[in-house]
Amino acid sequence: MKIGILGTGMISEQFVSAAQEISEIECVAVFNRSQEKADLFKAKYHLAQAFADYEQLLDQQLIDTVYVGLPNSLHYAYAKQAAEHGLNIIIEKPFVSNIQEFDELIRITEERQVKVVEVTRVLSLPNYQVIGEHLSEIGKISLIFLSYCQYSRKYNALLEGGTPNVFSSDFSGGALMDLGVYNIHFIIGLFGIWDKLSYIAKKRDNEVDLSGILLMEYPDFIVSASQSKNSFCDNQIIIQGEKGTISVPGIPSKLDHVYLSDKDQKTLISVEQSRNNFYYALSDILHVFHDDQLYQARLAHSRLVMLTLDQARASAGIVFKADRSDR
Ligand SMILES: NC(=O)c1ccc[n+]([C@@H]2O[C@H](COP(=O)([O-])OP(=O)(O)OC[C@H]3O[C@@H](n4cnc5c(N)ncnc54)[C@H](OP(=O)(O)O)[C@@H]3O)[C@@H](O)[C@H]2O)c1
Repeated sequence: MKIGILGTGMISEQFVSAAQEISEIECVAVFNRSQEKADLFKAKYHLAQAFADYEQLLDQQLIDTVYVGLPNSLHYAYAKQAAEHGLNIIIEKPFVSNIQEFDELIRITEERQVKVVEVTRVLSLPNYQVIGEHLSEIGKISLIFLSYCQYSRKYNALLEGGTPNVFSSDFSGGALMDLGVYNIHFIIGLFGIWDKLSYIAKKRDNEVDLSGILLMEYPDFIVSASQSKNSFCDNQIIIQGEKGTISVPGIPSKLDHVYLSDKDQKTLISVEQSRNNFYYALSDILHVFHDDQLYQARLAHSRLVMLTLDQARASAGIVFKADRSDR
């Protein structure tokens, strides 16, 4: 797989570092709107080419896949252009801004016979598998709590009057899109689609959410998922059943330690995850690209996540520029 990296932020750096450990992946080129930044990235990671003109990168036939490490609202347009040039796409979470963009992008990829896979980080973790395998041991589930709350290093810039992309409705930002999406991947991957949903959020200037609680109601149990970009939290996951509990100290995209407890004992059931989560995510993405059935299943999963994000935003009155037809 010969990859062109779109964007030179921290996440693109992590992508290239993880990709360099996988022999099937070769990062060949980078795009940034500034040639200077693209050149610096190219030099740092020993890539072959650097572009400030996206069309030029797509026209060169240097790559077969793009990695979209750009702000959320740009995922759709950059991915669409790549698909139209016959390239596969690895797309950062959240997939795109809304379900309309999702369906249109999938339509185009099918027409051009290319594939698009989301970097989920949750589904590929070995301990996510472990949790799935032990669920039946805790009996009928009644409640699930999980949280991904993290005081953002960009929050101070917001307080000082700036609008970092991650807090901008123009860039499809907010706590749900940035952090809540991991909670949703975790839950949808294990339990599928909910029956009812509501999202209560504290919003910035009545725009994007800074923090909020998402309630997902399933036939037998309720999920409470917290996400926040303006508070510190000792994050945890707790899955409560009639016979026991599965608990994880931490966020759904790490899952380093998983415990199974009942009234008598608490047992560590996790395996050692010796690689970083991006390495697992990339190895998984390679499998998904190579297996059509897995690819369709993953697309269906990503679509449910996108639907959940849309419904949650509708419930809390969060509207993005991308949602408006006059954008
Ligand atoms: N940051 C993380 O830890 C993290 C973790 C997981 C996933 N992600 C996902 O990765 C994606 C990028 O997030 P981020 O926080 O890294 O975003 P970001 O810092 O705002 O921007 C990332 C890259 O996009 C470029 N960019 C920004 N606005 C642009 C525009 N209008 N046109 C073209 N390029 C533009 C930036 O270029 P400049 O340098 O020129 O501004 C930068 O190279 C998001 O979808 C996010 O959900 C991020």
